[in-house]
Amino acid sequence: MDILGISGSLRAASFNTALLRAAQELAPAGMRIATHRLHELPLFDQDVEEQGDPPPVVALKDAIDAADALLLACPEYNGGISGVLKNAIDWASRAGRDRAKSPLAGKLVCIVGASPGITGTVRAQDALRLVLRRAGARTEPQGEVLVFQAHTKIADGKLADERTRDALARHLQAFADRVAASRG
Ligand SMILES: Cc1cc2nc3c(=O)[nH]c(=O)nc-3n(C[C@H](O)[C@H](O)[C@H](O)COP(=O)(O)O)c2cc1C
Repeated sequence: MDILGISGSLRAASFNTALLRAAQELAPAGMRIATHRLHELPLFDQDVEEQGDPPPVVALKDAIDAADALLLACPEYNGGISGVLKNAIDWASRAGRDRAKSPLAGKLVCIVGASPGITGTVRAQDALRLVLRRAGARTEPQGEVLVFQAHTKIADGKLADERTRDALARHLQAFADRVAASRG
């Protein structure tokens, strides 16, 4: 089972990128999580799209197409999702000039998130679910991984808190079960 992990933060010391690294360590047997960086992705511009997707957009869409499902690590900015992640979803939500459909159509997506605050990205995750639904993706599984007070749980880029690691591992197992069931 090939999962594509994407962090909505460009920051080198990002808690959300650290959460993706922890997910790679804790993935259940049979699940591989590759990551895709958004640093090169341009801002969405419909004029550019009409000329054909730029190479970083093609790379993103190809990576999503190739994956069985997605794992999105979602920062919370001002109660919503990061512009970086929203921009990526906007590009990926479109067929563009050269595809029959959006790579997000029907895609299973697992959401996790970390923030130093006490709500642990719950508002951003709710907002992300709405956006993904509009883009035709399906969010799974039920339940949430909300890494609140992330600065007390993630040190030197590593998720150290055992309870959080257990919760993440359980969430990934539940996601793996959903992805396997959807493949029949
Ligand atoms: C513009 C801005 C707005 C933010 N708004 C929120 C917020 O609404 N809720 C929250 O929990 N944290 C908020 N934060 C703090 C982020 O959660 C924190 O910077 C976090 O480390 C970003 O994720 P990252 O570590 O993956 O880069 C905000 C940070 C910035 C820069």
